Parts: sequence; structure tokens; C-alpha cells
Amino acid sequence: MIKIEHLKKVYPNIIPLKDVSVEINDGDVISVIGPSGTGKSTLLRCINLLEKPTEGHIWVDGTDVTDPKCDLGKVRQKMGMVFQSFNLFGHLTVIENIMLAPMDLLGKSKQEAYDEGMRLLRTVGLAEKALNYPDELSGGQKQRIAIARALAMNPDIILFDEPTSALDPTMVGEVQAVIRDLSKTGKTLMIVTHEMNFARAISNRVFYMDEGGIYEEGTPEQIFEHPQRENTRRFIKKLKVLELNIESRDYDFLGMAGQIEVYCNKNQIPPKTASRIQLTFEETAQILVSLLESPRIQAVCEYSEAAETAEWTVSYGGERLDVINNGDELALAVLKGITEEMKYNWNENAELPNQLSLKIQQA
Ligand SMILES: Nc1ncnc2c1ncn2[C@@H]1O[C@H](COP(=O)(O)OP(=O)(O)O)[C@@H](O)[C@H]1O
Ligand SMILES: [Mg+2]
Repeated sequence: MIKIEHLKKVYPNIIPLKDVSVEINDGDVISVIGPSGTGKSTLLRCINLLEKPTEGHIWVDGTDVTDPKCDLGKVRQKMGMVFQSFNLFGHLTVIENIMLAPMDLLGKSKQEAYDEGMRLLRTVGLAEKALNYPDELSGGQKQRIAIARALAMNPDIILFDEPTSALDPTMVGEVQAVIRDLSKTGKTLMIVTHEMNFARAISNRVFYMDEGGIYEEGTPEQIFEHPQRENTRRFIKKLKVLELNIESRDYDFLGMAGQIEVYCNKNQIPPKTASRIQLTFEETAQILVSLLESPRIQAVCEYSEAAETAEWTVSYGGERLDVINNGDELALAVLKGITEEMKYNWNENAELPNQLSLKIQQA
């Protein structure tokens, strides 16, 4: 078991990990996801002590690995790491790459290391490449060798840092298949990945990292289907967000139309959806501005790249005012034609208590 308590990692210009506490159980298969720069690699590198934590403790099977007196060699033997860039030794053959650490660190004989190495090569489907050099292999093959090499130390824990990110898309599957097999062996795996379907299929836990730590964690179902927190939701749905604020009746409607256009182009929103996003904003703004003496309106558009859906959430101040039943009929008719759903909500405690959500019809 790995137990992390108040882990903090400070670099000169940034604090990627502010205060991380979590327990990882034997046999857990954990996918670590999140935007780049949120400390995913740093977390893995702190766990296997490639980086020295600034503060906090990490226990691996009861040993505090942050204790200066701890025998690092022994702890590292329990943990294998697989990198994006394979890190194979170019001057050694495939089988030599795999035999090296068991002979040097575990004191295995050449014969033992060879037999075990060949067995592992068969499990990753590459026994016939034993005498080749890494340069003669494809990226997917190299990464499978790197996994076999990590397995040769018979670690209880294997950390993968974006194992498929450097691969040609045609080779992602073969490496994922090897990791998927491994996930059923009872070893503890932590995998930083951007492949959401893969993460979902193989892990029992998902860590979403953001804002200096594990921002949200849960089962794949919880994180991918029902994320609780805003950043997780935006990341999972690949939400692209635009916010516009109207603060007077004489708002700059052309400027805002321009902002919407830029937003749609930048996010490659299909033209039909883009024009509905534009029209929904125009009609809603027109209805509200004509009804509100001194309008305070916040309009947020969220486009989900994953689902290709768009939605406006328009909040406004003032008395309770359900525009769906009070607005200009012609404008409402236009809105009904291009939305799938229009909903009005009153939230007394919000700064802008009126809230209108408009789901745009899919193109
Ligand atoms: N050795 C380092 N020195 C200084 N800053 C670093 C170092 N390693 C990583 N960082 C910074 O720490 C932050 C987190 O990095 P990283 O853990 O690699 O993020 P991720 O793997 O989630 O993309 C980034 O802003 C990165 O630039
Ligand atoms: Mg990284």
C-alpha cells in the first residue's frame, strides 16, 4: 500500500503539488488524468523518488520513503516506471536491456535473467525480437519492451507516465493491450493518460488532477459520468467556455457577435451549430434587454467537444422574471425553433437570481 500525506513539491517558479493526501491500495489500477502542467508527472516522480518531495510523507508498504535513512534501492525495486520516451539502452539488444537490472540489482545469474527475460518477451508478444537492437523496432514495440523490462524486476507497483503519448496512433492499441493484461494480475498500477476510453476501461479509480493536487477522485463511472466539480466536468466533456456580460441597454452587440464568431472558429464548432449559438444569444439578449430597465446579464456558452453539444446559460438580475412566458413572442418562436430545451430557474440566493438555460439543437 502507498500512503501519501500532505505531499508538497515546490519548484523555483511553481508549486505543482500543494497538499496531496491519498491512499493507494494493493491491486488498485489508477488512471491519473488532467490538463497538462497540473503535476501528474511530478506526483509519479515523487512516489518513486525521482523527485524529492519538499514536504510531506510517502509510505510504501509501511516504509517512509521520505525519511533520509530509508534504503532507496530496496524501495525502488518494488516500483517499476514506464516513460513516454521508452528510455531503452540503444547499445544493448532487447534481451540484454531486460536482463541488465535483474543481474545487477537482484543478483540473478545470466541464465536465470535470460529465461525470465524470454518469458516476459513472450507475454508482450516480442520474443522473436530478443536479439534486435531498440533502433530496429517500432515505437509500439519499444514501449512493450520497456514494459517487459520493468516487469523483469517483478515490481509490486508500476507507474506509467503517458505510455502511449509518443506513439503513432496505429500503435497505441498494442501497448494498451499489454497494460490491460497487466491490470488483471493484481499489481498496483498508476497510469497517467490522455486516453479517456482506456482509462475508463481498465481502472478502478480515477484521479483528476488540477489546482495543485487531486482535485477530484472516484470510480471511472463517478468521474466520467457524474463529475461533481466544475473543472472536472469541463475537462471530461472537453467544454469550451465563452462568457459575455451585458451591463446596459446600449451594449456592444456587434462586438459580442464578433467574440462569439472567434470562439466558434477557434473551437471548430460546426457552422450550423455556430449560427445557432449566435442566434440564440441575439434573441435572448433582445428579449431581456427589452424587459429589463437596467440589465445585468451574464451569458455563458459551453460547447462540449466530446458530445458536440452547445448550451447557453443566461443569468440576470432583478425581480423574478420568467422570460419563457413573458418575452417577445416572435423572438421566443425563433428560440423554440433552434433549441432542444429551454428552462427557467429562480435561485433566490444567487447574485443573478434568474437563470435561463438553452440547449441548442444538434446540427
Ligand atoms: N524539474 C522541474 N523544474 C521546474 N519546474 C518543473 C520541473 N518539472 C516540472 N516542472 C513544472 O511543474 C509543473 C507540473 O509539471 P508536470 O508534473 O510535468 O505536469 P503534468 O505531468 O501534469 O503535465 C509544470 O508547470 C512544470 O513546468
Ligand atoms: Mg506529465
